[in-house]
Amino acid sequence: MERTGIAIEQLTKRYGSGQTAVDALKGVDLSVEPGEVVGLVGPSGSGKSTLLKCLGAVIEPSSGVMKIGGSPIYDNRWLAGDLRALRRDKIGFVFQAPYLIPFLDVIDNVALLPMLAGERNGASRERALAVLEALDVAHRARAMPSQLSGGEQQRVAIARALVNRPPVVLADEPTAPLDSKRALGVIGLLNDMARQYETAVIVVTHDEKIIPTFKRIYHIRDGRTHEEAGEGKALYETADYCSGH
Ligand SMILES: Nc1ncnc2c1ncn2[C@@H]1O[C@H](COP(=O)(O)OP(=O)(O)O)[C@@H](O)[C@H]1O
Ligand SMILES: [Mg+2]
Repeated sequence: MERTGIAIEQLTKRYGSGQTAVDALKGVDLSVEPGEVVGLVGPSGSGKSTLLKCLGAVIEPSSGVMKIGGSPIYDNRWLAGDLRALRRDKIGFVFQAPYLIPFLDVIDNVALLPMLAGERNGASRERALAVLEALDVAHRARAMPSQLSGGEQQRVAIARALVNRPPVVLADEPTAPLDSKRALGVIGLLNDMARQYETAVIVVTHDEKIIPTFKRIYHIRDGRTHEEAGEGKALYETADYCSGH
């Protein structure tokens, strides 16, 4: 068995056709081990969001191969019969904007996914509360999204991405609205969760506060990736942050 959490080979994506076609991805290779958090860094328009949307089965690539946990999900066409189930069970998303459901309180926003996956309500809420605690936002469990600060909303969104313990987590600028301590806290939590649950995590970011924490970074430019070693700095603040609450 392949141990690879995420494997992408020669992935391309063309938007549109003819004269106005845009080749957003021109042959991307990338792999992330279970338990690993890698950074994806590149200038605006370089294809970062396109790559995450392809891997997240939100848009269809044009060609190439994508595998999760060693199993191909795309090989020049989708191989999974049910893309919605694939997204729900295999992939956690964290977006720039939190997209919480406005008429559900915090705990139900997070508990919804395990409920949809068939878990009992009580167990779903317990699991949601544990993740909210780890993200230092459990005291807001009964608040509505509109009552939260931007940083709190983002932490709830991250809790929601992690609650089903998916093998893959895709995060597009997850720490942009957060201060330094909370940004490092989030990266620390992603690292802890990745190790504990063997999750493969890709973090798209420009955030100078968190870039030094990655052990491996993929740079993307003009639709192609190249890999670089990162600094892999220890997360002192984060250990403090996670244990103190
Ligand atoms: N829906 C779309 N239709 C046409 N072109 C798009 C679409 N989405 C993105 N693009 C183009 O694809 C390229 C990569 O975009 P994107 O993946 O959003 O880059 P990034 O996230 O790195 O800023 C850009 O040239 C962008 O204009
Ligand atoms: Mg983008």
